[in-house]
Amino acid sequence: MSLDRLTFHGLRNLQAVELAPGPRINLLTGANGSGKTSLLEGIHVLGMGRSFRARQLRHAIAHDADAMTLHARLVGEPPVTIGVRRHREGGELEMRLSGERLDRVSRLVQCLPLQLINPDAFRLLEGPPAGRREFMDWGVFHVKHDFLDAWRRFRRALKHRNALLRHGRISDASLDAWEQELVLWGGHLDGMRREWIDSFLPVFEDTLGELISLPGLALRYSRGWDRKRELGEVLRQARDTDHQMGFTQQGPQRAELGIRLGKRPAVEVLSRGQQKLVVSALKLAQGRLLEQLTGRACIYLIDDLPAELDSEHRRVFCRWLERMQCQVFITSVDPDALAGLWQADTRVAMFHVEHSESGQGQVLPMDRQTS
Ligand SMILES: Nc1ncnc2c1ncn2[C@@H]1O[C@H](COP(=O)(O)OP(=O)(O)O)[C@@H](O)[C@H]1O
Ligand SMILES: [Mg+2]
Repeated sequence: MSLDRLTFHGLRNLQAVELAPGPRINLLTGANGSGKTSLLEGIHVLGMGRSFRARQLRHAIAHDADAMTLHARLVGEPPVTIGVRRHREGGELEMRLSGERLDRVSRLVQCLPLQLINPDAFRLLEGPPAGRREFMDWGVFHVKHDFLDAWRRFRRALKHRNALLRHGRISDASLDAWEQELVLWGGHLDGMRREWIDSFLPVFEDTLGELISLPGLALRYSRGWDRKRELGEVLRQARDTDHQMGFTQQGPQRAELGIRLGKRPAVEVLSRGQQKLVVSALKLAQGRLLEQLTGRACIYLIDDLPAELDSEHRRVFCRWLERMQCQVFITSVDPDALAGLWQADTRVAMFHVEHSESGQGQVLPMDRQTS
């Protein structure tokens, strides 16, 4: 899976950018503020429907533009075009797949599996469980076709149960109905997550082992409710306290992928550098497992690799990227930090991101660089 054309208009300082990325490793270098992260951001918006650095997408629209329009062509027989547009004034994100209007972001996500590694990626370890749940569910979503449907049905039942808990007196009969739904779909979600984690663990351990030796580091899935009791029973018994709290306290919406070293959360024990390697291994393992289970490769967006890893670990990391049949976009201020990392037969395309005279960012293949 790879993109062979990107056309961006009105994205931050990238007012009009056209780029033909190579199928494998794409190195984007350029001075601070030239637009490297914005380029990754554009690909992220195409694949996820949202930015990784602006809560509101309209903040990513170029100051003097009314809208941002992003297009990408996905290699295939036939090729697929993905397009998104966001106007500054109101409106939602318009999404198209080969011209056909989409109403769900999940279709974009399905088409363009992305993994992002940037300084914020380290929140995966230190941040709240929601980030790790999202990480896990990304994996499940891409390999289990029923996941999205089960997740939607579960969310709907949860919303209704929470609404009943918050408003008025609780009627056991109406709670019964929604709890049955929660038990049914919650059980499916848990089953799919369990299966996924069983296949993920060996891939993660293998990947991490080459990056760093951390005996005792373990991932542990917990399903979000008491290990010894059925979800139905848990929900019934918690009605009063859930009513007081105003929401459902246990269930798969509270699942967690714990990352521990011995008995303690890994984040409390590991150095910053070790944490970066664990997160890198998690993200690489996601891509490897996706490839193993579906034959599809995901696209890696890696912002400022030299800042994230020292030179020795950069090398091991890049070996993994080479072994996977995936397309990669890597940014760096310093071209020399990225140049020597690749084996002779790896296809590497280099681009230079720079300001044009008008102050707009442009992206040029290295052999056409103007400065
Ligand atoms: N909404 C916007 N409109 C126009 N320019 C913007 C907007 N937001 C940020 N910029 C500018 O875009 C440039 C590119 O930023 P960025 O992609 O972070 O650069 P890099 O990653 O190469 O350091 C910066 O100079 C920044 O000031
Ligand atoms: Mg940047």
